[in-house]
Amino acid sequence: MKTFKKIVFWSLVGFAIIQFIPIDRVNKPVNHAVNFVDVKKTPQKIRDLIKGACYDCHSNETVYPKYAFIAPISWSLKSHVNEGRERLNFSIWGTYNKELKENMLSRAAESVQNRMMPMPGYIPYHKEANLSDAERKLIGSYFEEMLKNKTY
Ligand code: HEC
Repeated sequence: MKTFKKIVFWSLVGFAIIQFIPIDRVNKPVNHAVNFVDVKKTPQKIRDLIKGACYDCHSNETVYPKYAFIAPISWSLKSHVNEGRERLNFSIWGTYNKELKENMLSRAAESVQNRMMPMPGYIPYHKEANLSDAERKLIGSYFEEMLKNKTY
């Protein structure tokens, strides 16, 4: 019993201490001149879908939920945001070269339609990311059209 109490005590101390490890949750300002939905003048409906389902991880407009402030959940969440932004950041779309844009559009169209994106683990906590098949098709076709017509 004594050992058990000690384990609980030190676990709580550890949990309390890790809360002080700082995490950078400050978003960089958005430059509308290179932001995907602004540059492409994305129709309102598709704009809302992309912003609701992708922008938390693939832009500089991340909205952090309350649980994002509790370590170690916050670490896992921040690493998804960092990795997501590194691969594809809609906020800096205008700075991408042709190859990168083509590559991203085809991957984005594919991943939204085959349900790889938004990340499945994210959906239960974000109802706006729970896209219907029709919505997935709509976003996918939007990216595909852009790719086909070279209007990226
Ligand atoms: C919860 C965070 C999160 C959300 C929401 C999210 N993604 Fe991702 N996305 C990631 C992460 C992390 C990666 C990199 C790891 C991987 O490929 O699984 C990624 C990778 C990608 C890639 C691949 C890039 C490459 O280099 O291959 C594309 C394309 C993509 N996401 C598109 C989307 C689209 C489109 C949406 C919205 C419909 C979306 N994602 C929503 C986190 C997210």
